[in-house]
Amino acid sequence: MTGLHNKSILLGVSGGIAAYKSAWLARLLIKAGAQVRVVMTQGASAFIQPLTFQAITGHPVHQQLLDTDAEAGMGHIELARWADAILIAPCSANLIARLAQGQANDLLTTLCLATQAPIYLAPAMNQQMWAHPATQANHQTLLSYGYQLLTPESGEQACGDIGPGRLPEPETLCAWLTQALDATQKSRLAQGLRFLITAGPTQEAIDPVRYLSNHSSGKMGYALAAAAASLGAEVDLVSGPVHLPAPAGVTRHSVTCAEEMLSTCQALQPHTQIFIACAAVADYRAAEVACHKMKKGQNEEPLTLTLVRNPDILATLAQDNPRLYCAGFAAETQQVETHAEQKLRRKGLQAIIANDVSDPQIGFGSEENQVTLLLKKGELTQTLTYPKMPKTQLSLVLIQQLLQHYQETFLHEQTPDQG
Ligand SMILES: Cc1cc2nc3c(=O)[nH]c(=O)nc-3n(C[C@H](O)[C@H](O)[C@H](O)COP(=O)(O)O)c2cc1C
Repeated sequence: MTGLHNKSILLGVSGGIAAYKSAWLARLLIKAGAQVRVVMTQGASAFIQPLTFQAITGHPVHQQLLDTDAEAGMGHIELARWADAILIAPCSANLIARLAQGQANDLLTTLCLATQAPIYLAPAMNQQMWAHPATQANHQTLLSYGYQLLTPESGEQACGDIGPGRLPEPETLCAWLTQALDATQKSRLAQGLRFLITAGPTQEAIDPVRYLSNHSSGKMGYALAAAAASLGAEVDLVSGPVHLPAPAGVTRHSVTCAEEMLSTCQALQPHTQIFIACAAVADYRAAEVACHKMKKGQNEEPLTLTLVRNPDILATLAQDNPRLYCAGFAAETQQVETHAEQKLRRKGLQAIIANDVSDPQIGFGSEENQVTLLLKKGELTQTLTYPKMPKTQLSLVLIQQLLQHYQETFLHEQTPDQG
């Protein structure tokens, strides 16, 4: 299903020479499954007849703000609420200036102030008008208000000038809007859900200056947190010591050792729906941490360090809260899938992401990863293998897959309990 299917699109047309392209644009939007209503500025009607749009859309064209008949039918506020998106193409320099000033001196500008729908503008004008500092300043103002603007194309213009200012072809405009609406839809996939994600290594102190740790860079966990946030989730990222900035929209909780990571996760899990354990938690810690820096021995005698097991954060959370969707990572060097499946069952998880860390191309610190995702489906396990790809791209794929699995099976299984 495309982003335009069953969408209510308000097509605004302003007074530019490219207004003739809007008729074909209206046709393409309808062919893509959208409901289209057209609003024209006074300037636009000097370039194209309202009747053209009425014939294409099957609906009267809206032109007047202060029109008692129109207000008795679909009034300006109703029209503003009806729209899933407003697309203005062409958008004249004059209209850009009026929108940047927040004017409401005609129907189209009033609708833009009154709507909660996203607004997409396709400016088109003479290249000198587009380059003018006033137009560029207005352009920046509109971006800061959250309007989305498509950069005009460069080329030969109706006035004979050559430069940027041309309205892209209707096919390009239609594809742009489709893509933008798809992205908006995706950005709401995880809305209302809270993720808890662990990342990075842990450091287990031996004495005040030494510790046991591993080579985890935290890149995979941070990429997962960023991906979940980009899909609209609330994200708590519990991170061991790494050199990475917190992704936008993510709440980072910095910890050092495994026990601290566990207690932080336990405090956060009652508010969490989906837990992804991506941190490379040290399996062991020193049985005793020396209060002072340990001195080198006098002779060649080896030093014996006694280690004790660290808590298993993933298994503990899965056991503590059966309503928590738990996904873990299995970094293996041989029989990757077999070991991963055993871990999935043993720890009571819903999903496990397995990778072969013996491959230096996809191991710790690399920008890419190649994983196999195992999903628990009752007694069965579904195995999904992905090709090698950048961790940022892989994270988005994994989060979407986990979300779908969470919704399909986990929510479904829990419904009877919830009455
Ligand atoms: C022949 C002609 C072509 C025009 N083409 C454009 C254009 O492509 N882009 C633009 O911003 N203004 C263009 N203008 C100027 C606008 O029509 C004018 O600024 C008008 O007030 C715009 O009104 P509106 O923004 O309310 O539709 C053109 C004017 C004329 C006479």
